[in-house]
Order: sequence, then structure tokens, then C-alpha cells
Amino acid sequence: MSEDKELSYADAIEEAGSAMGRFPLIPVKGIPLMSHIADNFDAISAFCPDASDLLIATYPKAGTTWTQEIVDLLLHNGDAEACRRAPTPVRSPFLEIWSPPPIPSGLDLLNKMAPPRIIKTHLPIQLVPTGFWEKKCKTIYIARNAKDNMVSYYYFDHMNKTQPEPGPWEGYIHKFMRGELSWGSWYDHVKGYWEAREKKNILYLFYEDMKENPRREVERIMKYLDLTLPDDVISRIVELTSFKNMKENPMANYTCIPKTVFDSSISNFMRKGYSI
Ligand code: A3P
Repeated sequence: MSEDKELSYADAIEEAGSAMGRFPLIPVKGIPLMSHIADNFDAISAFCPDASDLLIATYPKAGTTWTQEIVDLLLHNGDAEACRRAPTPVRSPFLEIWSPPPIPSGLDLLNKMAPPRIIKTHLPIQLVPTGFWEKKCKTIYIARNAKDNMVSYYYFDHMNKTQPEPGPWEGYIHKFMRGELSWGSWYDHVKGYWEAREKKNILYLFYEDMKENPRREVERIMKYLDLTLPDDVISRIVELTSFKNMKENPMANYTCIPKTVFDSSISNFMRKGYSI
């Protein structure tokens, strides 16, 4: 590979090779985070967003990718081709993710993009860089019921070879309930953003509401973003972000991540998309 040729995200992950592995958890202000995130937390905390940036915050596996896709389509007037310009983690960087070189960190990707940016985070509210609140950035939070969230996380922890080993299901339930998984307690996470939603103007959504009536929730996001799109564009966005269509969209289904890291023989990223 010549030095001046920029690696694709997938190629960078391939090239990181054996440096990728299941990272141990290290507590940051009491929250267990994977070591590559914990080790770089000062730089992550210092990130200074632009007032036009949008934060999409979730506990892992609550519908982040779905919401990222909806937002990107809303901002591109439902233009499917425009939203296939790159895979989700490149179009909408993951604020705190930090991986071995040459994989770009979330901050590397963000620093190369012009605002407004769609920024993903799983950080609990107390660990979100304060710049987001000082700049009054719009923030969308999605919560998913604990049972489906935990099942989804369990399969994800098996297939994602950078997450700590999930171990057997019985033990996993207890780790989830004790807040010992990456990014900490589901209970504290959903509660923290809920309690701050009015003061910080957070649009608080539920995965189950999105499943029940996706059009209604897409319209809620549209209004929150101060956009007004015609009915046919909204219908198109709802259709493009259906589970079936996103599962088949290589720019939204995480098949961009090599199988050495996301092992699809264990589970797909787009697994079932259930809600109770
Ligand atoms: P399952 O593992 O239950 O299938 P995140 O993006 O936060 O990691 O969340 C991933 C979960 O959201 C997975 O749940 C995935 O299938 C589901 N998901 C992704 N896109 C979806 C969509 N368009 N509709 C419904 N569920 C979706």
C-alpha cells in the first residue's frame, strides 16, 4: 500500500490485524470502558463540538444505527445515493471509539469533517464532553427496553471481537444488571438522559415507539431538527430505514467491518430488530 493512498475504513481494520482483540474494561469515573477508550479519555473529554453538530446518544444496541440513518437521510432530503457515500461509522463518527492504528479514531474522523456532523456516543450523560452542553448542541437519545437491549448486546458481544468476552448467558444477565458491561449500567444510562432531557433540550425517543410507528418518530426527529420535508420524502425515508432495507444496505448494515472483527458466522449486526 503506497503511503499517500488513504486506507478505507475496512482496509484499516484489516491492517490493524492482530492489534485488534477483546479489550479489557477499565473504570473511568466509575464507568467501565474498554481500555482503548479509557486510555484516551482526556482527549475525548476535551473534544469541542460546533454548535451545529448533532449528538446521537444511546446505551449500546438501542437503535443507534437506525437513528443515524434516519438523521442522515433527513439532512439529505431523502437522497438514498448521498447516504450511500460511506459506511455508517464514517458518515457519523463514533465520538469515543479509539482503535489501534491505522484505524482512525472517532476524533480523527471528526476532525476531518466540517460541521454540522452527526456524532454517535454511548457515553453516559455525565461523561459526555461538556462542550456539547455549553454549545447547546441538539441531542437525540434512544432508549430500548432492558430485555431486548440486553439480548442484542449479548449477541453483539459474541460477534464483536473487540468487546470483552460475554461468557455464558446466566452470568451475562447479572453483569448487565450490575452495570459491569462496557459503558456501564443500562439503568443509570437511560435514567441519566431522561432526567436531563428538558434542561438540555434532548429529544428522548424509544426504540419501541420507532417500531410501532416509524413515520411518527421520523417526523418527530424532523421537527426537532427544524426541517420540513414533503410527505413523499418522509415516506421514502421510512421505507429506506425499514429493518429489511437497512439489513440489505452495505453502507448501513456494518458489513464494512471485516469478519475478523465482526464475526457474522456468530451473529449479524442487523440481527432481528425485535421489540417486546
Ligand atoms: P437486534 O440485535 O435486536 O437485532 P445499535 O445500532 O444501537 O447497535 O442497535 C442495534 C440493534 O438495532 C440491533 O438489534 C439491530 O438489528 C437493530 N436495528 C438496526 N436497524 C434497525 C431498523 N431499521 N429497524 C429496527 N431495528 C434495527
